[in-house]
This record gives sequence, C-alpha cells and structure tokens, in this order.
Amino acid sequence: MTVKIAPSLLAADFGCLREEALRAQAGGADWLHVDVMDGRFVPNLTLGPAAVAALRGRVTIPLDVHLMVEDPLPLVPAFARAGATLVTVHAEACRHLHGTLQQVREAGVRAGVALNPATPLQAVEHVLHLVELVLLMTVNPGFGGQAFLPEVLPKVEALRRRLGPPGPGVPEIEVDGGITPETAGRAAGAGATVLVAGSAVFGSPDPARAIAELRAAAAQATRSPG
Ligand code: DX5
Ligand code: ZN
Repeated sequence: MTVKIAPSLLAADFGCLREEALRAQAGGADWLHVDVMDGRFVPNLTLGPAAVAALRGRVTIPLDVHLMVEDPLPLVPAFARAGATLVTVHAEACRHLHGTLQQVREAGVRAGVALNPATPLQAVEHVLHLVELVLLMTVNPGFGGQAFLPEVLPKVEALRRRLGPPGPGVPEIEVDGGITPETAGRAAGAGATVLVAGSAVFGSPDPARAIAELRAAAAQATRSPG
C-alpha cells in the first residue's frame, strides 16, 4: 500500500495558485489539500469555493478540501458544486456531526471527518461508517509551518487498530500538520495512508523532490521486515 502525498496549498504562493497547483501535480502529488479557514473556527482566513472551482478547471488530481470552519454544513453544497472531491469537516465544529456527514455524502462528495489534537477518537466512533477519510491533526489548526505534535501518534495507531488494515471500504487515515521526511516515516509507521504536507513541499525549491522524499520516508517506514 503506497501512502498518498497531499500537498497543502496553504503554503503555496497565493499570487500564483494555479501554477503552484500544477507544479505539485506534475511533481507527483496524489491529492491537492485545500485548507479552508473562516477566521472563527481558526484565527485565519483563506480560500473559498471560487478558488476550488478555479483549481478544478486546471488540475486533474483529487481536491481534498479541509473545512476549518464553524458550522460547515451551509458551505458544503457550494464546495461540492465547485468540484471538491473530498470534503472534510471538523467534529468540533458540528453541532450534529452525523447529520452533517450524511448531507456531505448526499451532496455527492466523499466525506471526511477531522479531529484536533486534543479531541479523542471516541468523537468519531459513531460516524466511521459514513466517512471515507479520518483526518488527524498533528498541529493545532490555523497555520502552516508548525512543529509536528508527536503526542498524536498514539491516536493514529489506535485508529489504525480500530479500522483494521488499509483496504477497499476502509477509511483513509490522513495526518495533517508538520509533515517532513522525518515525521512522514513516523506518521506512516503509525498507520497513516495520506500525508498532508504544506511547507515541506511548497517551501522547497523542488516540490517534486520534496514529494519523492516524503514518499520514500513513508515507504521505508511501512516496508515489511525481511
Ligand atoms: C493547518 C492545515 C494544514 C497545514 C499543513 O491548519 O490544516 O493542512 O496547511 O501545513 P504544514 O505541512 O506546513 O504543517
Ligand atoms: Zn489541512
């Protein structure tokens, strides 16, 4: 099983998002991670559905939209229409998480649920059957370039045990925040199947090389012994 690499546009040059997205795609990115922030759930404000629609017309890889917004449900139809492939909502931001995820699926996009570092796995126990992705934050959300929080690794391991081995019908485990070649191996070794990397990719003069290094570190950590 090859771990997917999802570069986060938050670290890209916002003055040329299209070129940056195409460069990541050409460099081997599996998905493009789009961090949407509303200035309320997190103290930052970023991209909206119009940016996703502009990207949809340019890149062919899945658009992995991470909604760091309070009460995300009203925004879901616009992101679905804009061409999002996956829409991930935070459990902490939804008053009715089960109903919200049902409506994400009814909007015709793949549903994901995200947990902040302090939120226990128990928060998603009763919605795992509704999602194709569980995003575990390894930084406190709002900004790129932060240090990886290793105390989240046991949560990744526990989720891997809870879901069983990766495979068809098993939700992806996406780890998001502070991913570098060093932490990529630790996250993949703990059971992550998708790694989000912003500054490690877009902060590099050679995004293709950065993506290859992350993939190699993840492969090294998940190679069966012998
Ligand atoms: C943080 C975002 C992350 C962030 C990752 O709130 O959800 O996706 O952009 O950036 P790096 O890889 O630089 O930590
Ligand atoms: Zn993110």
